[in-house]
Amino acid sequence: MAVNSRISGLKDRSVAERRALVADGAGVDAAALTALDAGGLTVEQADHMIENVVGTIAIPLGVATNMTVNGRDYLVPMATEEASVVAAASNAARIARVHGGFHASGTGPVMIAQIQLLGAVDPHGARARVLEARQEVLDLANAQDPVLTRLGGGARELTARVLETRDGTQVIVHLHVDVRDAMGANAVNTMAEAVAPVLAERAGARSLLRILSNKADTRLVRARAVFDAELLGGPRVVDDIVSASAFAEADPYRAATHNKGIMNGISAVVLATGNDTRAVEAGCHSHAARDGRYTALSRFEKDRDGNLTGTLEVPMPVGLVGGATRAHPAAQTAIRILGVTSATELAEVIVSVGLAQNLAACRALAAEGIQHGHMRLHARTVAASAGASPEEVRDVAERLVKDGRIQVEYAREVLESLRSGDR
Ligand code: MEV
Repeated sequence: MAVNSRISGLKDRSVAERRALVADGAGVDAAALTALDAGGLTVEQADHMIENVVGTIAIPLGVATNMTVNGRDYLVPMATEEASVVAAASNAARIARVHGGFHASGTGPVMIAQIQLLGAVDPHGARARVLEARQEVLDLANAQDPVLTRLGGGARELTARVLETRDGTQVIVHLHVDVRDAMGANAVNTMAEAVAPVLAERAGARSLLRILSNKADTRLVRARAVFDAELLGGPRVVDDIVSASAFAEADPYRAATHNKGIMNGISAVVLATGNDTRAVEAGCHSHAARDGRYTALSRFEKDRDGNLTGTLEVPMPVGLVGGATRAHPAAQTAIRILGVTSATELAEVIVSVGLAQNLAACRALAAEGIQHGHMRLHARTVAASAGASPEEVRDVAERLVKDGRIQVEYAREVLESLRSGDR
């Protein structure tokens, strides 16, 4: 079924109505969304996932609307504790939609495992001998995972470097593995451990670390979109976003915040789909420093028609099989809502959401400032923290916004007067 992500007014509906609309829009059975009740994970299920379990902690799961990626609509589940994130992504996606939405592409799902070799008396000769064993090493690696090779993945390439360190010269070998629909950590770590003795023997060295690299720059995904000048607020806003982008490119202090805005979108979808947020974050930030200086991950430019073009390219090591993606019932439901059928498709949607989030933050910063919209939504959290019941939250939040005093103390006062009926 073709998904229609253009659901307007979702924010004004009840949770039950939203569930029905999302289920309908995504073409999934509405009953499947009950897996999202109370965090979607029982303590018994959690107990099988990590050690020393004493409970679970729930994070709100929202659905971003309006996303189109490569001509297909997606309703995007986002897990985040931060107000404004889901609304901002949906707004930016609406602005991109009029010019065809997001276009995403990538390098393919290739991960790198590193094998560290120590003590070679002739490091350059060791490197050459390791590379001569290429086919033997690839065959041995692939023998570890017949399922992956049957699915069209597997070890593809072997590279090696001589690395000068403060602890002497080391030979670092990289095994490049197409991991298909997996995040790939288990697959590549198993392969690295299996081939290390052969590499060590060829190098006349000892192997030490055998582990994947989170600098997943052979698994890059890029997204681009055209954001309509008029919908952004006019030509001045376009120019100001370009200036904001230039600031982030030139200054690491701003780049860190700019990139944090991107990660607000990326990490929310990564988490909702049960993927490894730390792996993705390590990959993105290492990519931001790839030229030796930390910089912005995205670029905004003005096109010939005066519209804003945005581009974002980052490593995106996410999977659809294995790990919490399979074990967590809510993650399974999130993937059903999203309707992706490959890890590559999932990665393309995630990077597009990152770009949408980034645009939304830069637009707000360049126009009315971030606090305007953010504090409106934050007011609800403040009202709840002050003790407002779900029925009282809206009234209290509205009053905080109206009076321009979004503070817990004041929310308590408003709540008290509301309850005593003197408003
Ligand atoms: C807040 O979570 C994210 C922003 O600071 C991002 C940015 O400054 O671009 C608004």
